[in-house]
Amino acid sequence: MSNLLSAEQSEYWSELAQTYVWKKKWDNLISGDFHKADVKWFNGAELNITENCLDRHLENRRNKKALIFEPNNPNEPSSFLTYGELHLSVCRFANLLKSKGIKKGDVVCFYMGMTPELMIGILACARIGAIHTVVFGGFSPLSLRGRLEDSKAKLIVTHDGAYRGDKLIQLKAMVDEAIEGLDSVETVLVVKRTNNEINMKGGRDYNYETVIKSAELYCPPTPVEAEHPLFILYTSGSTGKPKGLLHTTAGYMVHVGKSFKDVFQYKENDIFWCTADIGWITGHSYMTYGPLLNGATTVMFEGVPTFPTPARFWEVVEKHKVTHLYTAPTAIRSLEKFGHEIPDKFKMSSLKVLGSVGEPINEEAWHWYHKHVGKEKCPIVDTWWQTETGGILISPMAGLTKLKPAHATLPLPGIEPCLMDENGKEIKDLVASGNLCLKTPWPSLARTIYGDHERFIQTYFSTYPGYYFTGDGAKRDSDGYYRITGRVDDVINVSGHRIGTAEVEDAINEHPSVIESAVVGLPHPIKGQGLYAFVIPVDGVEDSEALEKEIRETVNKIIGPIAKPDLIQVVEGLPKTRSGKIMRRILRKIVENEIESIGDTSTLLNPEIVEKLIAGKKELN
Ligand code: WTA
Repeated sequence: MSNLLSAEQSEYWSELAQTYVWKKKWDNLISGDFHKADVKWFNGAELNITENCLDRHLENRRNKKALIFEPNNPNEPSSFLTYGELHLSVCRFANLLKSKGIKKGDVVCFYMGMTPELMIGILACARIGAIHTVVFGGFSPLSLRGRLEDSKAKLIVTHDGAYRGDKLIQLKAMVDEAIEGLDSVETVLVVKRTNNEINMKGGRDYNYETVIKSAELYCPPTPVEAEHPLFILYTSGSTGKPKGLLHTTAGYMVHVGKSFKDVFQYKENDIFWCTADIGWITGHSYMTYGPLLNGATTVMFEGVPTFPTPARFWEVVEKHKVTHLYTAPTAIRSLEKFGHEIPDKFKMSSLKVLGSVGEPINEEAWHWYHKHVGKEKCPIVDTWWQTETGGILISPMAGLTKLKPAHATLPLPGIEPCLMDENGKEIKDLVASGNLCLKTPWPSLARTIYGDHERFIQTYFSTYPGYYFTGDGAKRDSDGYYRITGRVDDVINVSGHRIGTAEVEDAINEHPSVIESAVVGLPHPIKGQGLYAFVIPVDGVEDSEALEKEIRETVNKIIGPIAKPDLIQVVEGLPKTRSGKIMRRILRKIVENEIESIGDTSTLLNPEIVEKLIAGKKELN
C-alpha cells in the first residue's frame, strides 16, 4: 500500500480500475510523490484505451449510436456513427496513420473544425499508441507553429476549411503558413469539408478521402504501458509560452470514465451533449473519452450557439432528444442576452441534467439556466476542474448532491481538496477562504509539461510543497461546499478560455509602436472576463483608433482572435515599484473600478501615474 493515499483511497482506485479492460494488470497502484512531481499510477499494467472506448462495447452496443453529428448549418442533415461504425472508422484511420509512418510514441497534431473525423482521428492515434495534440482552430498559424515546434508533431490532420456560424476559416492555408520551412512535419492529411480552394504540396499533403480508401478495415489495439502518453494539450499559464500538459493512458482513463458516470449520473439510453470544442480539455474528457468509456451516445456540434439564430442550442436539444447538456457560463450568458422568451418556446422535455464548466457561473446565469433551460426540473452540475486535472474533481453528482447556486459543492470520491492561507499553511477550519490545492494524488493528473518537467514542478508543486496548487482561489462554507472564486495568478479566463497575461503582453509588444504593456482581466458581462491592455507607445505616437486596431491585429496574428484585447488604454507610464516591477494589483483595481481599495501608492516609483490611469480609463460600451 502507498503512503500517499489513505487505505480507502487505495481501495477505491484499485476497485474502480478493475472495471476496465487491461491487457496486463498493474504490479503496484501508485508510486512517486508531489515533491518531485513524479506520481505514477498502475505501474506495470498494459492496456489500450480504445479497447475500453470501443471494442468492449461491440458485443452489446454495436448498433447503438456512439456519435451524433450536428453540422453548423441546420439545413444540412445530421448524421451518426454506431459503435460498430466508429470502431471501423477508427481502425481504418489508424491504419492510414501507420501507412504514413506513424508509430507508437509519435505525435500527431489536429487543427480542425468539429467534424467526426477529429474524434475518429484522435482515437486512431490512441489505437496505435501515437500521441495526439489538438490545437483549437481559433489559434493563429504562428501559435500553431509554436505548438508544432514544441511537440515535434510529424503529421497534421486538418480541414480544407471549417464552418463556424457564418464564417469559413481557411484552415489548410493556415497550416501551410504555420509549417513553412518546418521540417519536423512530414505529412498533412486534409479532410474535405468546405470545398474552398487549397494548395496541395506533392509528397507532403494528402487528400484524406483518397488515401483512406486503401486503409484496411481492422487495426488491432496496440497495448501500451499504463504511463504511456495519450495526449498533449496546450494551455496558458501565468508566465511564458503556453505549456503542453502531458496526460498518460491508464490514470486518465480510470478517472475520466468514472467521473463522467458519477457527475452526470449517466444512464444507458441517455444522449449526452457537451458543447465544448475538442481543442479544449472538456472536449477530450467529456465529449470523447468519458462518454465512450461508458458506452454513451455523445453529440458533436460543429457550429456556434447563435447561428443561424440564438435558438440553435434549444433546437439541437429537441432534435436529438438530448438528456444532458454540458456547456459554459459564457455561452449561457450570451444566450441570456437575447431574452428568456427564446428558450421558453421550447419544452426540451428530454433534458434531465445540465452542466456548467470552465469558469465560475454567476448566480444570475445559474438561475436563468435552471429556470429557462432546465424548466426547474434539471439539476445543474457546476463542475470544477482544469486541463491539468484531466477530469472533474469538485462537482455535485446530479440528483444526489443538494445544490447551491454557483457552488461546485463537494469533491468527487477519492479527491481531497484543501485551502491554504497566506502563510502557506493548510486551513483546518471548515469555513474558510484561501488558495485551492489538492492534498493527495488522483490518477488523471497531468504527468508533466512536455519537455519541461522543471516548469511543471515550479508551476504546480513549489508554492505549497507537498501539495498540487491549482492557481484558483476558493471559499468553503459550513456544509463543506466549495465555491471557486477564480484565478489568483496572472491567468485570465476569457469566455472560459485560459489566456496568460504575459503571452498577450509579449504579443502586443511586438507592435513597432509599443514600448511596454500590461494586461489585466476586465469584468465582462458575457465573457466573464475580458482583456484590458495598458499600452505605452514610443515617443510621438498618440492614441488613435488606427493604433488600437493594429495592436489587436498583431495579437490576432501572434495568438489568435480569442486573445484580442477588449479595451486598450494608451498611457504614458505604468505604476512600478522602485525595483521596476509593474504593480498589477493597482491596474486590476483600476479596471475593476475599485479605486477606493487601491491603497497606499506612495512607495511607487511614479505614484502620480495612478490618477492619470484612472482618468483615462476606458469602458465597455
Ligand atoms: C476555471 C477547463 C469556476 C478555473 C475544464 C480553472 C472554473 C480553469 C470551473 C481551468 C468551475 C473551470 N467554476 N471556475 N466550475 N471550471 N474553472 O484548463 O479557474 O480550460 O483553473 O479547464 O477554469 O481551465 P481549463
